[in-house]
Amino acid sequence: MSSRIANAALRSKITTAEQAAAMIQPGDTVGMSGFTGSGYPKEVPLALAARMEAAHAAGDPFRVRVWTGASTGPELDAALAKADGIEFRLPYNSDPVARDKINRGEMEYFDMHLSQVAPMAWQGFLGPLDVALVEVTGIHADGSLIPSSSVGNNKTWLDRADKIILEVNSWQSPELEGMHDIYYGTRLPPHRMPIPLIKPDDRIGQPSLQCDPDKVVAIVQTDKPDRNLPFDKPGENALKIASHLLEFFAHEVKMGRMPDNLLPLQSGVGNIANAVLTGLVNSPFENLTSYTEVIQDGMIDLLDCGKLRMASATSFSLSPDAAARLNADMSTYRHKMILRPQEISNHPELIRRLGCIAMNGMIEADIYGAVNSTHVMGSRIQNGIGGSGDFARNAYVSIFMTPSTAKGGKISAIVPKVSHVDHISQDVQVIVTEQGLADLRGLSPKQRAIKIIENCAHPDFRPMLADYYARALTGSYGLQSPTLLTEAFSWHQRFIETGSMQP
Ligand code: COA
Repeated sequence: MSSRIANAALRSKITTAEQAAAMIQPGDTVGMSGFTGSGYPKEVPLALAARMEAAHAAGDPFRVRVWTGASTGPELDAALAKADGIEFRLPYNSDPVARDKINRGEMEYFDMHLSQVAPMAWQGFLGPLDVALVEVTGIHADGSLIPSSSVGNNKTWLDRADKIILEVNSWQSPELEGMHDIYYGTRLPPHRMPIPLIKPDDRIGQPSLQCDPDKVVAIVQTDKPDRNLPFDKPGENALKIASHLLEFFAHEVKMGRMPDNLLPLQSGVGNIANAVLTGLVNSPFENLTSYTEVIQDGMIDLLDCGKLRMASATSFSLSPDAAARLNADMSTYRHKMILRPQEISNHPELIRRLGCIAMNGMIEADIYGAVNSTHVMGSRIQNGIGGSGDFARNAYVSIFMTPSTAKGGKISAIVPKVSHVDHISQDVQVIVTEQGLADLRGLSPKQRAIKIIENCAHPDFRPMLADYYARALTGSYGLQSPTLLTEAFSWHQRFIETGSMQP
């Protein structure tokens, strides 16, 4: 296994996970690798959690501050949260144990735009970084690192941390080498320069991560797989949403607003986003490209059938089957994929320049088109904003999608007023549910309301929404975005009190 570590001096730093975990102290800030269940450390966090549990049992609280790329896996977030070991976490989390802790008020969570994590760390707003704990595929003789199945913020953690712990994972295909593009040209104002990326397939950096060998205090070896959860088979709603979107794309091409091969696709996390990609497999669109955050199963399908020419992202987010397919043929896929630091995959300037088509899931939208991606009933975090804000504001066209109801039809995903705002109406251009699609571009708030209620709301809630809107038109304080303030939020309150938004 140590054949993956070509640098002799670094080979001498191989330790057990327990020894490595002992180098992390209570109160430390640890920058960990990991993005949507890929490329996160799988040994040291478990050993750290065991240490924390022992310390807590002895009446000695042991917590750390955790920074990551985005969500990780159960060996990291769930293990540390279960051990009550995370004092503060950023950014995106989707782990249910950590989510529970956050919603019980036992863990501080700073949910931020994914493109802003690295710049903010460099600006110093997040405080010092004590330890970088980063999974890699291997180590070159010169000490540089072959990145793993995600890049995330690893470049920044390695550069900023006082000490470095590496996990070398031999489960990761050695053929990953050469897939990555690590750009070292970003600077802080006033020294920023344009980023020289013109097409999604441009390579502007280097394939490996730089690492100061003197900062490396421990290397741990593992062969554990990434989290890799299966996707649901697309259900009826997901298929309908996909078909509305494909129709929309065909219309945009016909109107001359998009080229025949569309524009670079960004596809968010989750089952619906994956179903839309799968829908593109049977579409007439060819020679597609993607400039996105995660490569999901649907994108591998699109690459396999030859419809997708290339995919640029910062991470994989695959089912076990798709991960096995990818690993078995990595030498072919490697030339069609690029993994970049998340400050580049999600960079607002690049997203705007490339003209991405942003497609993201949401919790709910209101009749004026504001979108809530993160909070259930205004207060409980579901996951986080992830890259949806990076893409939505800067995309060529910004699309949000959801089934029109949740919780077995008890909740309408179209509401008078969203209970939490992640995306203001100006950043939301198209809303899609299984009921239909609302193209909101160029419409005033009142025109948007009519279109969203008619095209997107579920028939069980459409009359309630139409009635609310009609009364708002006569009874509200002003007529630009008519709102009955108390009644607008009563829908959510009714669900909290009775278990249904229906009266
Ligand atoms: N009200 C209350 N709960 C709702 C809801 C609503 N309007 N809509 C969904 N939910 C609940 C579901 O019931 C489900 O709950 P459960 O886990 O208890 O079963 C949960 O939210 C997730 O919903 P699901 O239908 O499984 O959604 P998904 O996998 O399509 O994900 C988001 C939807 C919004 C959670 C997901 O897209 C997300 O986290 N987005 C923000 C980050 C993002 O966009 N990243 C991509 C940028 S590149």
